[in-house]
Amino acid sequence: MKIVSTGNSEGLSSKISSKLGIQLARVNRRRFADGELYVKLEEPLDGAIVVGNTYPDSGIIDILLTADAVLNAGAKRIILLVPYFGYARQDAMFQEYEAISARVLSDLFREKFERIFVVNMHSPEGMAFLGSKGEEIRAESVIGEQVRDDGNEMVVSPDDGFREEGENISRVAGLESVCLNKRRVSDTKVEVTIPQGVSVKDKVIALTDDMISTGGTILESSKVLKQNGARVVNVYCVHGLFVSGTSKYAGIVDSISTTDTVEGPFSKMTVSGVVSASLRRYLGAD
Ligand code: R5P
Repeated sequence: MKIVSTGNSEGLSSKISSKLGIQLARVNRRRFADGELYVKLEEPLDGAIVVGNTYPDSGIIDILLTADAVLNAGAKRIILLVPYFGYARQDAMFQEYEAISARVLSDLFREKFERIFVVNMHSPEGMAFLGSKGEEIRAESVIGEQVRDDGNEMVVSPDDGFREEGENISRVAGLESVCLNKRRVSDTKVEVTIPQGVSVKDKVIALTDDMISTGGTILESSKVLKQNGARVVNVYCVHGLFVSGTSKYAGIVDSISTTDTVEGPFSKMTVSGVVSASLRRYLGAD
């Protein structure tokens, strides 16, 4: 069994490889002149754990070609780890005749892999599409430890979608937890209010969320917290996409920490420990 990284998860793959004592497979990955992806395993394999995000879009074709190369290299078993499952937010038809992207990707993966591990899928509905082959790995314990070590005084989640997770983070950190009220106005704009009776005055806040995409949620939440007297707003999230760059956060939040599900300038926390524990359990029990 070897770990086979796609092009977007090399850092995390190598940490998991060290923790599990499972070697990384050698892969030749390059682009043709027209930009199409070429993938070749440089060694035969008896089994593989393929690691790859479905974001950006190119990650999807990378996973599919890597899986094919792994099977062509002789693998009898193939497991998928998706650190960040992009396309998971469209997990239902919110309007008639829409494509349900979370289901489309899940159907593709269920066909090819014996088990599919996902770190913090956007919703239980998304996980359900993976059926009995799916297993979710949660990162709240990793975030909770960082929140505690950074000296925060209160955990805040921006909306109901992360309320329970915020509470779990606050339990690990030994702090109280508060959930804001958020209303999404458009893809990039949200309105946020602090619930009545909650005081954030002079507090060091750990603002937590599952992902930062445009940053609209985090920026608006931080502004409202500061307008209401918060002294410091430290941001923590599982998946940091930062689709419109990272410069706009300066001066509005005091720090940003993400996990390494998506590798970037703020991935200070690693999910390699919780991921390795789940993989070890599965491989051991198998
Ligand atoms: C919403 O349901 C999610 O939990 C995040 O709050 C949201 O997706 C973040 O997106 P953005 O950074 O674009 O506000």
